Amino acid sequence: MTARTTRALAAALSLTATLAISGCSSDSKDSGTDAVGAKPELTVSGGYMPQPVNAEMAGAFMVIKNGSKTPDKLTGVTSPLSDDLQIHETKDQKMQQVHSMDVPAKGDLKLERGGSHVMFMGLKNTPKVGDKVTVELRFEKSGPIKVELDVKERTYKADNSTAR
Ligand code: CU
Repeated sequence: MTARTTRALAAALSLTATLAISGCSSDSKDSGTDAVGAKPELTVSGGYMPQPVNAEMAGAFMVIKNGSKTPDKLTGVTSPLSDDLQIHETKDQKMQQVHSMDVPAKGDLKLERGGSHVMFMGLKNTPKVGDKVTVELRFEKSGPIKVELDVKERTYKADNSTAR
C-alpha cells in the first residue's frame, strides 16, 4: 500500500468516525442522561499471549470493557517486545489490519481466538509460558492503559463466557 493510499484511507476513516460521534451525541441529548464529553471508563481483563512458535509474529487476546455511556475506540498498541503492533480483524478466516476498533458504551471489545486480536509483527525475543509481556493500549478518548499479558500454552483458550 502506498503512503498516498494510506493517507486517503485514514482521511476516509476519520470522516466516518466524526459522523458516528455526532450521531451519538444527538442520541444522548434525547435521553438527557449522559453528560457531553463524559470519559469512557475502560477496564481490561484476561490478557494473554499464546507462546509464539518463533520470533516472527504473535497474537494477543483480552477483553476491554466499557462501563460508561461514552463509546470509545482502540486506536493502537505498543510494546517493548516489538516495534510493529497491529490490530487485526478476522473476516472469512483471513486477518486484516484495521485502524481502530469500537469499544461500545456499556459493552465490551473482545479480542479472542478466531476473531479480532492484537498482532505482534516481529518479536525482539520469543517469550515462554509463564513470562509476562507488557503492552500499552491507546484509545481515541481514554488515556493509555498498560496491560500485562500472561504467556500461555499454545492451545490455551480463555473462557470469556464469565467475563461479563
Ligand atoms: Cu493477525
